[in-house]
Amino acid sequence: MRVAVGVDHGAFFVKQAVIDHIETLGHTVTDLGTFDDSSCDYPDVVQELAPKVASGEFDRGILLCGTGIGMSIAANKVKGVRAALCHDAFSARLTRQHNDSNILCMGGRVLGVGPMLDIVGIWLGEAFDGGRHQRRIDKVAQLETP
Ligand code: RB5
Repeated sequence: MRVAVGVDHGAFFVKQAVIDHIETLGHTVTDLGTFDDSSCDYPDVVQELAPKVASGEFDRGILLCGTGIGMSIAANKVKGVRAALCHDAFSARLTRQHNDSNILCMGGRVLGVGPMLDIVGIWLGEAFDGGRHQRRIDKVAQLETP
């Protein structure tokens, strides 16, 4: 898959490890920044990445900030994005199976690097179940258009 990665300064320290891990799993990674640990605004990173996932330029996106919360709030404003904030393996698996999430958000200040990499691997490897869950995400999409 084509995977885009974006981080703010709160997760810059873990970005390269995440990229290396995704590549080890056989995917192609595009690094959309940030490119140093100086303070930046997470919505700017979301603006760079999320529309490119929604448009299909990338199959999946991973957005990391201090808590993952700001990234997930911002990413879910973008039409076509289903961003999931996951800090455990169960949620990472289920959000793929049930929500067909196309962006994974995590907080670099919440989890250690090892658990984050495990979650990335689970999330990238899990398929969408479809069926009744397709009906539900179709209804979610309807909420995007008032
Ligand atoms: C930056 O200090 C921090 O607010 C950001 O990384 C993130 O945690 C926001 O949700």
